[in-house]
Amino acid sequence: MPPRVHIVGGGVIGLSCAWQLARSGTQVSVVAPAPGRDGASWVAAGMLAPVTEVQFGEAGLTALLLEAAGQWKGFARSLEEATGLDIGFNQSGTLTIALDASDRAVLDDLLAYQHSLGLTAHRRSPSECRGLIPGLTPALRGGIEVPGDHQVDNRAVLAALLRACRDSGVEFIQGVVSAIEPGPALALQDGDRLSADHVLLAAGAALPLIGGLEAAGLPEVRPVKGHILRLGAGIDGRSTPLLPRTVRGLVRGRSIYVVPRKDGSVVVGATMEERGSETSVQAGAVHQLLSDARDILPGLDEMELLEARSGLRPATPDNTPCVGWTRLEKVAVATGHYRNGFLLAPLTAGAVTALLHHQPLTPLVEAMTLA
Ligand code: GLY
Repeated sequence: MPPRVHIVGGGVIGLSCAWQLARSGTQVSVVAPAPGRDGASWVAAGMLAPVTEVQFGEAGLTALLLEAAGQWKGFARSLEEATGLDIGFNQSGTLTIALDASDRAVLDDLLAYQHSLGLTAHRRSPSECRGLIPGLTPALRGGIEVPGDHQVDNRAVLAALLRACRDSGVEFIQGVVSAIEPGPALALQDGDRLSADHVLLAAGAALPLIGGLEAAGLPEVRPVKGHILRLGAGIDGRSTPLLPRTVRGLVRGRSIYVVPRKDGSVVVGATMEERGSETSVQAGAVHQLLSDARDILPGLDEMELLEARSGLRPATPDNTPCVGWTRLEKVAVATGHYRNGFLLAPLTAGAVTALLHHQPLTPLVEAMTLA
């Protein structure tokens, strides 16, 4: 009999791992309250942006994110071929613009840091920015073009992963895991108990809610809340403004992004809030996102507000994902993907599969695994 793995979590990480493990001959079940609609993945923008989102002092993480970005073309092709579904992999690059002189100074520092790491990013004048995206405000102060940062439609990826998992024999068990028990076994909130050869914890920001992990040796995983909006084509049927690529903005020091989808809708995000694990939608956050997005793309006013939501990014103290065996026997973990769940999904799935099959890991992946 092939080994049996229970994966706790049905977001992009849990489903990517489930699909790859199933293809490697493992018997897999995914245990989650709403597989494919769980947690941060459903709310995410689907950004694949290791260069645009680079953070000072995180060169090691950036190297990992670049390795992950390099895997996306092959992953997208396999997923689309396996399912016949379009996952909206958009390779038109990203433009970040500055709204005022201080925002321009911040972007210049960022560009210098990107160049110091050898990353491909180009300074663009205001007119070059407007040449790339005609709907941008004439008030902008220039920007940075990153041709290699892309995006994927998060919900299309989740739908494709669900189908790919089902077609590969993955079983879905709807439920909430309340604790991990020795064995290993999963105790479910409804009283059921499931045992397996291995358990993979891929529950994102819900990990701290699972009992029995005190001796697992995991770093602290905390929720970082993000509000996000979805806007649809205007009431006159036009999709205004036409966004040929992802645009990000620094608006008086605040970050905003507007991501186009194939159907003419756009995703506007996202706040970064440390306020525990509540996911209510605050009027002030919605107002801030809309106000900043309109400042860079005035034509957004004509669009329809379709959705306002919030989700919880799973963050570790050093923003590095946490993948590897825990100190509990036969229990592995893959969480802490923070702002990069979609970007890191193929790389994490490969790492988890190698781990469970006792195969060697690449040095970069080895560096993010638990000691
Ligand atoms: N990577 C985008 C976000 O976390 O908002």
